Amino acid sequence: MNLSVQLAPKNKHGLLLANPVMTASGTFGWGTEYEHLFDIQRLGAIVGKGTTLEPREGNPQPRLAETPCGVLNSIGLQNIGLKAVIRDKAPIWAGWRVPVMVNIVGETVKDYAQLAGELDGVAGIGGIEVNIGCPNIKAGGAEFGTKPESAAEVTAAVKAATSLPLLVKLTPNTGDIAGVAKAVTGAGADAISLINTPRGMVIDIAQRKPLLGNIFGGLSGPAIKPIALYMVYAVAGAVDVPVVGCGGITSASDALEFIMAGASAIQVGTANFTNPRAPLDVLEGIEQFMEKEGIEDIAELIGAARR
Ligand SMILES: Cc1cc2nc3c(=O)[nH]c(=O)nc-3n(C[C@H](O)[C@H](O)[C@H](O)COP(=O)(O)O)c2cc1C
Repeated sequence: MNLSVQLAPKNKHGLLLANPVMTASGTFGWGTEYEHLFDIQRLGAIVGKGTTLEPREGNPQPRLAETPCGVLNSIGLQNIGLKAVIRDKAPIWAGWRVPVMVNIVGETVKDYAQLAGELDGVAGIGGIEVNIGCPNIKAGGAEFGTKPESAAEVTAAVKAATSLPLLVKLTPNTGDIAGVAKAVTGAGADAISLINTPRGMVIDIAQRKPLLGNIFGGLSGPAIKPIALYMVYAVAGAVDVPVVGCGGITSASDALEFIMAGASAIQVGTANFTNPRAPLDVLEGIEQFMEKEGIEDIAELIGAARR
């Protein structure tokens, strides 16, 4: 059976995954944390925690709240910063078979370009995932990814700064997901991943105040799966680059829904918190499905529900 997928067919380095199962940024550490639990080299790719130019402490506690079928988080991009990623993490990844991507986050377009430029040519970095679901400080805090113009501006700046394969990760907090997808593709995205977390909040009625220290957070887990699936379907029909589906995937059947909607690969996120082997279970379930259905190449399933 062939499960391999090429996520950056137009990029000179390419981004060939042995299979379509990836981990979602912020939910799988740097990969090293999971090494003792299962053979992480079997995964298609690993995406690291959102990385900023300088280390960040993140938002005030509490930063996590359970919701029906989901989790609200307002981590606020706590991370070790770009220098430490390049110095301490990349050399480990350079010895791995599984490609690792760095998820980058900036407050300005210049930040994004600098992050991408400094990662260019670093051994152990398989590609960059550009998180455009964060506030544009210069434009009064609206997320870069809410508008096609600002999303394209970030993508073009990153593209000019690196030759690494680029996944641009879309936020669902926009009224025009297909328009944003087309704009970032036109600006040089090799592939598109979606979705990041829709905004939500919880109120503690005993305290009569918002439960999260940051007031609102991002919702993830099975609660968002139908939204994510719809958006993947819409985007896969609008662009001609590979699409990576993410949002509420906990099982192989969830993953297969995204693949049939048009995703070439999928990311497992919140499911890692309840089942650390979730990505491997998803992979093995996809293999079993293919065997049972007599499918020899995963390509036969990509977009199967669109035909
Ligand atoms: C605790 C936590 C931290 C996250 N951190 C990031 C991040 O740093 N960068 C990013 O692009 N997405 C981040 N995400 C979003 C996930 O990568 C994913 O897009 C989202 O959770 C939806 O997938 P899921 O329902 O499978 O978790 C985070 C999600 C969670 C739950």
